[in-house]
Amino acid sequence: MNSILKNPPDDSPRRSGLYIRTYGCQMNLYDSRRMSEFLADDYRRVPTPEEAELIVVNTCSVREGPQHKVYAELNRLSEHKKSNPHVILAVCGCVAQQEKDRMFQKVPALDLCFGPDAVPHIRELVERVKQEGRQRDTRFVKGGFHLEDQDVPLALETVEGSPVTEFVAIQKGCDKFCSYCIVPYTRGREKSRPMEEILREIQWLAEGGVLEVTLLGQNVNAYGLDFGDEHAFSNLLRRASEVPGIERIRFVTSHPAHVNEDFARTLAELPKVCPYLHLPIQAGADRVLEAMNRGYTRAQYMNHIEMLRRWSPNLALSGDIIVGFPGETYEEFRETVDAIEEIRYESLFSFVYSARPGTKAAKLDDPVPREEKLEWLHVLQDRQKRITHEINESYLDTKQEVLIEGCSKKDTAEWMGRTPSNKIVNFPAENAKGGDLVTVNIVQAMPNTLRGECLGLVKSYSPKTDR
Ligand code: 5AD
Ligand code: SF4
Repeated sequence: MNSILKNPPDDSPRRSGLYIRTYGCQMNLYDSRRMSEFLADDYRRVPTPEEAELIVVNTCSVREGPQHKVYAELNRLSEHKKSNPHVILAVCGCVAQQEKDRMFQKVPALDLCFGPDAVPHIRELVERVKQEGRQRDTRFVKGGFHLEDQDVPLALETVEGSPVTEFVAIQKGCDKFCSYCIVPYTRGREKSRPMEEILREIQWLAEGGVLEVTLLGQNVNAYGLDFGDEHAFSNLLRRASEVPGIERIRFVTSHPAHVNEDFARTLAELPKVCPYLHLPIQAGADRVLEAMNRGYTRAQYMNHIEMLRRWSPNLALSGDIIVGFPGETYEEFRETVDAIEEIRYESLFSFVYSARPGTKAAKLDDPVPREEKLEWLHVLQDRQKRITHEINESYLDTKQEVLIEGCSKKDTAEWMGRTPSNKIVNFPAENAKGGDLVTVNIVQAMPNTLRGECLGLVKSYSPKTDR
């Protein structure tokens, strides 16, 4: 495997335009980055589909809403292809994996349909489309999880420029079979990626100027259990901390069933591992948790966070909640509201239950109308808004170490960065730049973000390319 980091020149005349539209989770964002790297010899990323010769729509099927958006987007792009017939239109991700040939029936202009396991083969699939026409690859790859089976170095090339923070997949698929969830069917069984391969990728990213990595998987704290190594995740965090140039490490998503003392201790002891944990509870009532097949009770979840907070008193928690699981009663929903009051997540991602064809829950009786579930969701979100705002206010007048990721979204004259606890902070600073670690005094608490005043530089990292 070639370990040379390569940045093909932007003005390379032989490279065509590649537009990737990414829906859904961070794993999809990661897959999109990998695809652009696998294609980097022939394609450069462009910001709009109009400039592209190859268009890839990377899809999500975790709920019905995003799935609908995919077809709307593909139909729009089909119109564009009508007047530009040389354009290759491809779809990948979880909807492609599930829908297979139905995608071609619904979107006749489509040239290529492939699932998450075919991501490393995108280059040869595009070649086959050029030679033979329409292709589909939705096979699950047997064996381990490797992303190095092609001799393709990291290009580290995004439309926006060289990144400060990047994702690294450490695991694929999921074995948990929560009764509502489509992921085990679209991404296959859970498999851990070999540790040496992960560390090599982290090292390449660091060589390219990346300062922060987020390790990705559906159940990262079960990493390596499929190799029979119960300390693998802690070892991975330890070894990732030792990679020169890496300053911060995050990871998502953790599963409550795999929280233990070893995990809590590692999280507390490694200074580069950020005190932030995404640990979804999903529901507050034991009967619902059991029907969801989550593998823990509410009391066990609460014990875990109590233990985690004992080890890391400043630990910031975030979570996911599904409202209106089939058969969930109003009283059971109130137990969820009660649970988030008790937990006090710094941020919460909450959704109305969406029936996914082929899952166990989709067969259950679901008597509560969607309008009512939406009302429940609003109640929950209002509660969480208050909690998040209160927590944000507790940051006022504190000094935070912020890693600058780039310009603020709302005001390009300001910088945006994150605290170790994953809070977004916007602030003005004349002499700062992306990739700087600065101390910021928090002066204002907004509902979702913080505003600050820069007190000074902690460390300036010399980036490999302009940010
Ligand atoms: N309906 C609603 N939300 C879902 N999620 C997963 N499947 C469904 C579904 N069928 C949510 C869970 C998960 C997050 C990524 O998406 O809360 O943690
Ligand atoms: Fe889906 Fe449950 Fe696996 Fe998460 S742990 S991906 S919710 S089956």
